Amino acid sequence: MLDLTPDRGDLDPIEIASVDEIRALQLQRLQWSLRHAYENVPLYRARFDAAGVHPDDLQDLSDLAKFPFTSKADLRDAYPFGMFAVPRDRIIRLHASSGTTGKPTVVGYTQADIEIWADLVARSLRAAGLRRGDMVHNAYGYGLFTGGLGAHYGIERLGATVVPMSGGQTEKQVRLIEDFRPDGIMVTPSYILNILEQYVRMGLDPRASSLQVGVFGAEPWTDAMRREVEAAFDMHAVDIYGLSEVMGPGVASECVETKDGPVVWEDHFLPEVVDPETGDVLPDGELGELVISTLTKEGLPMVRYRTRDLTRLLPGTARSMRRMAKITGRCDDMIILRGVNVFPSQIEEQMLTVADLAPYYQIELFTKGHMDAMRIHVELLPTCSGAEQRQACRNRLASRIKEIVGISAEIAVGDPGSVERSQGKARRVVDNREKR
Ligand code: DLL
Repeated sequence: MLDLTPDRGDLDPIEIASVDEIRALQLQRLQWSLRHAYENVPLYRARFDAAGVHPDDLQDLSDLAKFPFTSKADLRDAYPFGMFAVPRDRIIRLHASSGTTGKPTVVGYTQADIEIWADLVARSLRAAGLRRGDMVHNAYGYGLFTGGLGAHYGIERLGATVVPMSGGQTEKQVRLIEDFRPDGIMVTPSYILNILEQYVRMGLDPRASSLQVGVFGAEPWTDAMRREVEAAFDMHAVDIYGLSEVMGPGVASECVETKDGPVVWEDHFLPEVVDPETGDVLPDGELGELVISTLTKEGLPMVRYRTRDLTRLLPGTARSMRRMAKITGRCDDMIILRGVNVFPSQIEEQMLTVADLAPYYQIELFTKGHMDAMRIHVELLPTCSGAEQRQACRNRLASRIKEIVGISAEIAVGDPGSVERSQGKARRVVDNREKR
């Protein structure tokens, strides 16, 4: 793999400013953002008043802990535009997150919001090792999802050529990558596996592709998956994080020279990690729920938004700003199986240690007698077959999961192609448990 470390002269000065400088900027911007929210969004005014706090009470960044949280339910209750802080005619773009139940949550952006978003995705791509003049294949879905258009504007802002492919049509994805020869690809980690499989199906060598770097996000993925994808394509794989309620892709993104967790772009977002049960702020380094406050958003300012994502805040390395550890999972995705907490990412890690298994999996929860049980669907590599290999994979995965994750799971080793393939965000858990 090529060394893609960007020149320091190409970075935004704030990325490598002193921590004191970054904190001072955050304080000033947070004071503005709280005031903007309080003065223009009735929900924030009511919440702050009820909690007995006023934007003037923020004299230090630590004062933020006195302010109330905001959650997805607040956005849903305010459907569609009730939390916008500017008149509707100043909103130039809407997006919405699908959600699994009920109403979508709608988010809106002013012209200035769109500009900052483009800047931050461009910054993220630069951190990934891409630069002006490169070509980037964008396979994030276009539409209400923030992935496609968010990435698109950032690629253009970088001065790169965007291929606005969107998700799906996997064979065409491979054709275009082969014909146009892009330097980078933006896509979910589960969909790149689908593209990988298509390469093999078409008799092409993914390691010979033009791709130098993949910028993967929108769903959890592990370092084990990073190694798998990097080896398969002979390219760098970096992590990009974001969520529509806060902006979209590019809230945090990883540096190609360190690959040690996404750097939170702290000039525009203030991260906190809290205990998901009590809401208490945890010190940096501890695992908990990520909470984000926006510092510059006009259309939809977010004050202490509970992301439900579990991570830790880590000190800066390649940049002065803090990093977040790769997301372990969402509070909502945690499976409690007979008293043991399990995240799909833990299953992914173990599955990738079994050499004859393909990197696809799905977890099924079902009822066995009166107990909850887990069945992990995996599949053999196309080059492997035979009852013996199947049995060996089954035993090996079951014992690793028992030993390392601490649960007993059934392993169903299917034929190549038997596990559901992703076109965007993968569905990792299928819950077939009887409702009691
Ligand atoms: O997924 C925005 C995005 C698009 C990010 C493209 C990166 C790339 P939502 O659909 O609102 O927005 O989903 C946000 O996805 O709260 C996390 O649970 C998860 N997520 C996003 N990025 C990552 C990541 C987009 N790098 C939700 N690692 C978030 C783990 C991620 N989970």
